[in-house]
Amino acid sequence: MPPRVSGGTLGGVHDFDQTYWETHWRESPLPTAGSRVPPPNPYVVDETRDLTPGTALDAGCGVGSEAIWLAGQGWKVTGVDISATALEAAADRAHAAAVSEKIEWIEADASAWEPSQRWDLVMTNYAHPAIPQLDFYLRLAQWVAPGGTILIVGHRSGDHDHGSHDEAGHPPHEATATLDGITSRLDAAIWRIETAADRTRNTGGGHAHSGTLHDVVVRATRRADDHQ
Ligand SMILES: C[S@@+](CC[C@H](N)C(=O)[O-])C[C@H]1O[C@@H](n2cnc3c(N)ncnc32)[C@H](O)[C@@H]1O
Repeated sequence: MPPRVSGGTLGGVHDFDQTYWETHWRESPLPTAGSRVPPPNPYVVDETRDLTPGTALDAGCGVGSEAIWLAGQGWKVTGVDISATALEAAADRAHAAAVSEKIEWIEADASAWEPSQRWDLVMTNYAHPAIPQLDFYLRLAQWVAPGGTILIVGHRSGDHDHGSHDEAGHPPHEATATLDGITSRLDAAIWRIETAADRTRNTGGGHAHSGTLHDVVVRATRRADDHQ
């Protein structure tokens, strides 16, 4: 069994704790306020197209591409991330994109955070917490308002994953999920599954997630009369 690594990036198994992510962002070439905001994740664009803008949470928002894009579409967005460095870059970019007043940035560990509000849309893209991936998704699902939407974009479990990030950037197995794994955690009495799809795309170079990505995309609607 390889050693667990907190704050490391190579060798061993990652802990995906605050130290790991803060180190990750400090060592990343961060976008600056003046730099072009990369396009949002295409699955977020596709899956939110028919939703009426309201309140949205991006859990594990990183440097804010999707949160900033949603704000531009009329959503009132909360971006939460465990890394202060990522949030600082996100806030700079939101300012440059003139959407600052539509986004609140919160530094928090979403695996322990207890928000006092619910959102019309709760989404997460490639966030790998220290707790099991499916437990994290279930936690986020509880923050969706009645009638609202959860959107999960994650790395798909498969042959390409293993114990740690490899040279091609494939994530470790513990940071991946399957469609069945996610949808089976969404109680059918509460959730209507709208999308459950395996997707593959090539991001090309110069992107936070470079190369070919094997993803899972799940979108579900919470019953409007569910007030649990
Ligand atoms: C791979 S990055 C993805 C960032 C962004 N969503 C994207 O798709 O480009 C994962 C993000 O999740 C954040 N994260 C990981 N664990 C977290 C947690 N427990 N609470 C909040 N954010 C977390 C990391 O700091 C990082 O910004």
